[in-house]
Amino acid sequence: MEKRIPQHVSIIMDGNGRWAKARGLERVQGHFEGVESVRACLEAAAEDGVKYLSLYAFSEENWNRPEDEVLTLMELMMRSIKNELSNLMENNIRFVVLGNRARLSDTLNAAIDDLMAVTAGNTRTTVIVFLSYSGKWDILQAAKKAASELSPEEFQAMEQADFDRYLVTAGFPDPDLLIRTSGELRISNYLLWQSAYTEFYFTDVLWPDFRKPQFREALAEYARRDRRYGKVK
Ligand code: IPE
Ligand code: IPE
Ligand code: MG
Repeated sequence: MEKRIPQHVSIIMDGNGRWAKARGLERVQGHFEGVESVRACLEAAAEDGVKYLSLYAFSEENWNRPEDEVLTLMELMMRSIKNELSNLMENNIRFVVLGNRARLSDTLNAAIDDLMAVTAGNTRTTVIVFLSYSGKWDILQAAKKAASELSPEEFQAMEQADFDRYLVTAGFPDPDLLIRTSGELRISNYLLWQSAYTEFYFTDVLWPDFRKPQFREALAEYARRDRRYGKVK
């Protein structure tokens, strides 16, 4: 049987807090364990020929969490960037961060820029981390950018494909498969424009328990889907 591998898999990594609570641990322990799931899924994606793996790591709404949790998540991001450099280079993986970068600290932004520059030439798989991202923010910033760069006539003549170029995801393909862990059945302001024809996959598994077998089960389910894009087949 022909195996259909999605070009771009995206994941809303949810359930770290509940994973920790179920074990009588602090929420941050769930986030630490979640980093291991990121590593496992990235490895599986590279092995299976998925060209883009994107991860919703922190939403614009997540800034409203308690200050110490926000701080821990940012520190975790910083530490992961430092720790993963050799792994990304060895495995020929490109690293990209997309989101409202203006809200991140200067030190984190500098570390992100460094890792993006160093891995820019890697070609096996691209991992995109959505940090301080929300879909509505993205659409609004795109509209503002387009309005400032285009004449009123050009703005009015804009087509959907032209608008794509102003989103932070410009140049990247839309996700073929969107996975959400932890049993929540919502999109939580993620890739609203870009997921117009994405296949959705929901699982009750909590993010820290989502490893290679679970990732591959989602790919297998994707291979069984019939994508019609509104047409009759
Ligand atoms: C996902 O896990 C991680 C982030 C949103 C940063 P949560 O922290 O949302 O875990 P739950 O949903 O409270 O279990
Ligand atoms: C969505 O998870 C955001 C990320 C996974 C980064 P949340 O836990 O923040 O979403 P809600 O609040 O349950 O919708
Ligand atoms: Mg959550």
